[in-house]
Amino acid sequence: MRSRLIIFSALLPIVPAQVITPPGPIVDSASYTAPATAKYNYVDALHKSFLFYWAQRSGTQPYDRLAWRTSSCQDCKGDYGEDLSGGWYEAANTMKWGGPFGFTVMQLAWNVVEFGDAMKAVGEYEEAVAWIKHGADYLLSVYSTSGGEERLVGVYGVSAAVVNGKTEDVDFGYFGPPEEYTQWAPFKYGRKAFYCVGSASVNKGCTDIAADYAAALAAAAVALRAVDAAFADRCVAMAKTIYNFGTKYQKSYQDPVFSDIGWTNYKEWYPSTGYSDELALASTWLYLATRDQTFLTQSQTYTTQTDITEYSWADKGIAAAILLHRETKNSTLLSRIDGYFKNLLPGGSIPRTPRGLVYLYKWGSLRYAANAAFLALTHAKNVGGSDAGGAARLKTFAMQQINYMLGDCGRSWLGGFGVDSPKLPYHKGSYNSFIDYPMFDIMKRGQDNAAIGTDFLYSRTPNRFVLYGALVGGPNQDDTYVDNREDYVFTEVTQDYNAAFSGALAGLIEHYGPANFGRASDCGLDLGWNHPGAIAGGRSKPVYASGDCYHTCDACSSSASPQVPQQPQQPNQPVNPGQSKPDSTLASSGGPLSINTNGVSSPWTEDKKSSGMGKSLAYNLVGVLALTIGLMMWFAM
Ligand SMILES: *[C@@H]1O[C@H](CO)[C@@H](O)[C@H](O)[C@H]1NC(C)=O
Repeated sequence: MRSRLIIFSALLPIVPAQVITPPGPIVDSASYTAPATAKYNYVDALHKSFLFYWAQRSGTQPYDRLAWRTSSCQDCKGDYGEDLSGGWYEAANTMKWGGPFGFTVMQLAWNVVEFGDAMKAVGEYEEAVAWIKHGADYLLSVYSTSGGEERLVGVYGVSAAVVNGKTEDVDFGYFGPPEEYTQWAPFKYGRKAFYCVGSASVNKGCTDIAADYAAALAAAAVALRAVDAAFADRCVAMAKTIYNFGTKYQKSYQDPVFSDIGWTNYKEWYPSTGYSDELALASTWLYLATRDQTFLTQSQTYTTQTDITEYSWADKGIAAAILLHRETKNSTLLSRIDGYFKNLLPGGSIPRTPRGLVYLYKWGSLRYAANAAFLALTHAKNVGGSDAGGAARLKTFAMQQINYMLGDCGRSWLGGFGVDSPKLPYHKGSYNSFIDYPMFDIMKRGQDNAAIGTDFLYSRTPNRFVLYGALVGGPNQDDTYVDNREDYVFTEVTQDYNAAFSGALAGLIEHYGPANFGRASDCGLDLGWNHPGAIAGGRSKPVYASGDCYHTCDACSSSASPQVPQQPQQPNQPVNPGQSKPDSTLASSGGPLSINTNGVSSPWTEDKKSSGMGKSLAYNLVGVLALTIGLMMWFAM
């Protein structure tokens, strides 16, 4: 996320932020030389990077890889019955913003298109493919048509709402785990879909988002064709449908017609800078997925029209240019691409930190550098034959950037990896997990969100669960870092931060030769299964097949890898969130006292056979009591 209002403030003394200067050496980037052998274990970093998507995962889980996450949002639906349960939550929040979501799926697919062979060779391909499919599955549900109207889910989730005439944060004001969102969301707002719409009489298209979705589905089709041709066909068909929607009803979601409050934060936090870059990328991927010349012509037109600046969820002209250049070898395009990289390479116009990171923006600085590193590795492959020197410079650039993130600056910026990795990322689920906070502070459950948020935001307690593989926002321009949740400009983690980063890691594995790396596994990682809350709740680890060297400490056996693990029954499930209540408020919904306790096993059950129900009720009564007091105070104000 690039900018955000101060979303939370409390009348508490603020502990001064501890600014850390990493001890790594100051470097002269111009003389940085590419290490001859891999300096870091990129396979381990990639393995962990994919693990982060489990922390973000929404919907019904095939199994629980992390003890502290389970199924959530299972009954999430649009107003027209669309299944919106899947995908990922964007960041610490549980929003599904269209643009960044589409970007993430597209990029995860692109990673496999470029570097899938390297992933295969080190055992990470199946996980990569599963994530593309998971993301694409969500996008297959966002378009619907009825009553002469076409529509697209642009945003899913309630970020803000007007309550008693005042605009309040909803999702951003919720500090608990995604599993219990519906139950404890501020003002009891459930999730809701916000739409782009087109018909004979209405143009409320959202070309930026539609093109992001179309690019994602078309890229997914290219990446997945080898493993599931039928699924790839569905992706292509839907990509075309959504692309047609976006080109037929041309409008940006920045347009005032998107006046509903559901769009307000999105417009502010993820502003669109025009959609020619999104159309350029979508038409390019559609061409690659279909080889239909119509899309090639459109790709050339849009790519010519679009600016080439940064590479991010917002700006994608450079991505379209690189993909299109590979197809056409157009020299005008090549010089534009060269201009982009010239700015990034040593001596270019983009500033650097003293320890060598290219520094585009303060908010999420590492993600911009990781995105550029991915493009450099990709373009180096394209030009390698004709310009070996240029390709080598691009690779050296990518190595310097990724090595900075993994430790060269004196610390790691990746959760659970390397030296001095971030301990306090701005991530709610790994701090307040459904298996944790009731065990240690039962009064917290159902307590006022501001109180929970105060603990989260201003506490200097490390996240209670290791957020493996999450690339944090990054440093100040002088390389310093503030490892606390309050400074989320630096400590935020998001689905899009990790997307191209994982592709760059795979690119480096390819460069150094996959055979020079071992495989990575969950062996030795603390995924929360020994946490008292997991044990007390009777949660058990999935049972992986013997010889599964991806998830266990077993030596590899080829027959084991593709099986879906068996998971024993997990009694420690969150309380049934009940029906979500879109747009219902305290007053209209009957209030938070209508807590659902109907026969669902308790998240706090210590003995699933006997007292589960009793405890569930008891703890719910504690919650009811706390809420009653809260309500009384609220009315008293
Ligand atoms: C190359 O692309 C430019 C626009 O970027 C276009 O004007 C030109 O005609 C293209 N050249 C060829 C040979 O297709």
